[in-house]
Order: sequence, then C-alpha cells, then structure tokens
Amino acid sequence: MATKNILVVPGDGIGQEVTAVGKKVLDAIATKFGHTFNYDTALIGHVAIEATGNPLPDETLQKMKKSDAVLFGAVGHPKYDNDPTAKVRPEQGLLKMRKELGLYANLRPIKLFDELLGASSIKPEILKGADILFFRELTGDIYFGEKGRKNDGDTAFDIAEYSRFEVERIARKAFEAARTRRKKLCSVDKANVIETSRLWREVVQKIALEYPDVEVEHQFVDATAMLLIKDPRRFDVVVTANLFGDILTDEASQIAGSMGMLASASVGDGTGVYEPIHGSAHDITGKGVANPLASILSAALLLDISFGMQAESAAVIKAVDQVLKAGYRTRDIADAQTPADKILGTDAIGAEVLKHI
Ligand code: NAD
Ligand code: IPM
Ligand code: MN
Repeated sequence: MATKNILVVPGDGIGQEVTAVGKKVLDAIATKFGHTFNYDTALIGHVAIEATGNPLPDETLQKMKKSDAVLFGAVGHPKYDNDPTAKVRPEQGLLKMRKELGLYANLRPIKLFDELLGASSIKPEILKGADILFFRELTGDIYFGEKGRKNDGDTAFDIAEYSRFEVERIARKAFEAARTRRKKLCSVDKANVIETSRLWREVVQKIALEYPDVEVEHQFVDATAMLLIKDPRRFDVVVTANLFGDILTDEASQIAGSMGMLASASVGDGTGVYEPIHGSAHDITGKGVANPLASILSAALLLDISFGMQAESAAVIKAVDQVLKAGYRTRDIADAQTPADKILGTDAIGAEVLKHI
C-alpha cells in the first residue's frame, strides 16, 4: 500500500480527452490494490499561453518537480502550426519541460496486440509478434542547439549537437534494456554524412564492449525507415538520436496499428513523464473519438517505471488486451470487419477498460 502524488498535465486538444481516461484507470488501480493516489493538475502548451502568456509556467514546472510522476497529454494548436513567425509556441513548453526535468531517455515500446493484426496497413504475416523498444534521446540534437536566422533574414540554421556523455548515458540505458529482452540492439544514425552521428557511432561501439552478451548492429536512418516496414520483427531494442527517434516512432506506430496505441515514458534525472507519442490532433478534438489507449498504456508505464508497481501495470495492460479481445475498437483501430456497434468513443472504450480492472 503506497501513497503517491500524480500530476496530470493534459495540455491541448485531445490531450484533455485522453488523460481524463488515463487518470480514471489510475484511480481504479489505486482502489483495487489499496493505494492512495493524490492528484493535482497544471497547465502547459496553448492553454498555458492563453492563461499566462507562458507555455510552461513556473508553477507547472515546480509542481512537476515535486510530484512522484506526471501523466501528460499533448501540446499544440493549429494557430501556431500555421504561423511560422509566432515567437511563443506550445511546443516550447514541452521541450523546456524535458530539459528542466533532465528527461534524456524517451522509451517508446512498439508492441502489437495480436487482436490488432488487421488494423495495420502492413500484412499480418510480416507483423505478427513484432515487439520493439525504442530509446529516443530526448534532450539533445538539433532540437536544443543554437537556431536562428542570419542577418539577411533569408537564411535559417539549426545546430545539431551531441556530447560524448549524452550519447553514453542513453546508450547504457538501451543496452541494459536489451539485456532483459532478446539481447539485440540496433543503433540508428547517419554516420556516413553527419558528424554528431559519427560521434554517436563511436560512443555506441565503445559502450558495446561492456555488453558482450548483446548483439549490436548499426544502421543508417534511411535504411531503418525501410526495414521497419519490410521486416519489423528483426528489431528488438533500437537506440537513436532525438530527431531520428521522433520520426521513426511515428512510422513505427503503424506496426502497432495506430498513433493512438503508442505510449511513452520520458525518464532521466528526476520526475518521470508519461505520455502518448501522438499530438493534440485538432482534426478530431472535441469529437469524442480519440483513442485513449495510448494514455492508458502510458499510465501502465508510469506504474511500472516510476512506482515499481509491476502487478498493477500488468493489470492495466491485461485489461486493454481483454477489451480488444472482446472486439471493442476506437475508429482509428477498427478495420473493415469491425461491426459498427463495437466501434466506441473515447469515454466508452475507457469504461470497458475499467470493467476489467
Ligand atoms: P498528431 O499526432 O496530433 O496527429 C496525427 C494524426 O493521427 C491525426 O490524423 C490524428 O487525428 C491522429 N491521431 C493522433 N492521436 C490519435 C488518437 N489518440 N486517436 C485517434 N487518432 C489519433 O500529429 P500532428 O497532426 O502532426 O500534430 C498536431 C499538433 O500536435 C501539432 O501542433 C504538433 O506540434 C503537436 N504534437 C505534439 C506532440 C506532443 O505533445 N508530444 C506530439 C506530436 C505532435
Ligand atoms: C513528440 C512531438 C514533439 C517532438 C514536438 C511536439 C515538439 O512530436 O513528442 O514526439 O518533436 O519531440
Ligand atoms: Mn513526435
């Protein structure tokens, strides 16, 4: 029996809708297992800019630092997506949060539930059994280097930067995870062209010497994009830089059937943050159709990683599996065979998950 303080930070768009469901699942787990989870909430992104002018108000950051874990939604708004000149942007809040909390490792598990074999646009015989764990480096690379315009205003630049230490710590986390899985690690870079990638490869080769039991391969990012679709089962743990990891995991979401299925854990020096990999999805915001399973599975990662509650985490994953086995789907994971009465909205599929906890 434990007492934990969870900060719920829904953010923008469907972030609001899916974290509400994720929180209900955490509540049900607390009741079932006799824990006390205390909740607080805070603003980030567009809603924070509207309320305070700041995409990451200091109050939010302080609350994050003090909490035992953060359940995060998404940030983003079309207003900024369509205005490249906007100086204050929702995404700045997310990036500052990652930097300030030292969240250098972003774990993105790509696990296909067998029931969803038909939901992907990839052939079932290529997909069956696919199970990949991405380690995306989250506080370096082109995201955090110097950026700007040259004096003429017509030339822009973004500097990509990595230090040896930054590559070492994410590589070690990935190797440790590989040890507990199928003992295969693929490091993805663009070392044939990019200097930060050459440092990346040099460091991963060096760290690999400490893990002789793990089989290592190095792939270029362009080839990896192809191999993920051609033969997803060849991958076990994948470790890569911030930008490559962002792009490859959206691609890999199709292995799991939908962006709405992909959870993530951002961990490092302090409080862990748990969030779907998807964004605020304003094309479906307010329609009640967003898939909350990524938020629910993020809650499962929170229980496992930040609270060490393995049985509780497994109970969440099992409940999701049972709902899928019962044939329930949100629109994004339904296929041509799904009967109309099995296609549920955000809250209704959440209620089905709760029935199994
Ligand atoms: P997105 O992930 O929001 O949406 C991409 C597509 O996937 C859309 O068609 C959307 O409807 C669908 N989708 C996403 N999540 C879904 C879910 N749970 N259920 C059903 N369908 C789902 O990406 P985008 O459209 O490129 O970006 C929209 C905004 O979100 C932008 O402002 C972007 O900056 C932001 N964004 C934020 C995060 C984050 O907060 N971590 C991540 C990605 C994008
Ligand atoms: C993600 C998002 C963010 C990223 C954006 C919104 C800054 O795409 O969490 O994957 O690029 O890291
Ligand atoms: Mn992304």
